[in-house]
Amino acid sequence: AASGDLSGRRVVVTAGGTREPLDPVRFLGNRSSGRQGVAIAAAARARGAEVTLIAAHLEVAPPEGVTLVEASTARELQHAVTDAAADADILVMAAAVADYRPAVVVDSKIKKEAQGDTLELSLVKNPDILAELGASRRAGEYPGLRLVGFAAETEPDQAALLEMGRAKIARKGADLLVVNRVGWTQGFATDGNSVVVLDGAGDIVSEAAGSKMSVADRILDAIVALD
Ligand code: C5P
Repeated sequence: AASGDLSGRRVVVTAGGTREPLDPVRFLGNRSSGRQGVAIAAAARARGAEVTLIAAHLEVAPPEGVTLVEASTARELQHAVTDAAADADILVMAAAVADYRPAVVVDSKIKKEAQGDTLELSLVKNPDILAELGASRRAGEYPGLRLVGFAAETEPDQAALLEMGRAKIARKGADLLVVNRVGWTQGFATDGNSVVVLDGAGDIVSEAAGSKMSVADRILDAIVALD
């Protein structure tokens, strides 16, 4: 990592998994630990950036020296990101954002006695924060903002995984997409990660494997190389 190469740059990182409430005691969540996003925030800080970490639910402590903004649901994250993106140079969307949320949030605990043997949940689509930012950018907003997305997929075949990544970066309108394979034992709670970074044309610009901190630095290298 080139020390100080992000000096004075404003970097916003989202990390962790969102939680969508069902009732006062339950939520729909995901297995994201926030480790990779937190490592990116820490690495950007170490390289001199002014870092805002927009944290959904994290299993690790946020790094020292960053501005912390907490957001629990996809819609809270959307508001925090929209605010922070306005004066950011780089936005890295590493958070695992719920694609759907319960259509109704019940204001007292759902009781099995009142439900019988099955309980049906109705879900509605959340805003796609990254895709909306990509679309705003295409319309001329956020000039100068570098937009980086993540794609966590369970697809075991590498070629198919990359194909999904290429379709996703086109759909989202990001500058870079970090593709990683996740599964029951891969990607989430572990300290290691293995990623492929695609550019807007769908070409591989970087492949990195190792600790989440070393992968974070390779991702930042790819962002710096865009200039
Ligand atoms: O479509 P998918 O969830 O695989 O896309 C992953 C990327 O899009 C991540 O960068 C994630 O933070 C972002 N995302 C988002 N809003 C959503 C879902 C995902 O910004 N509702």
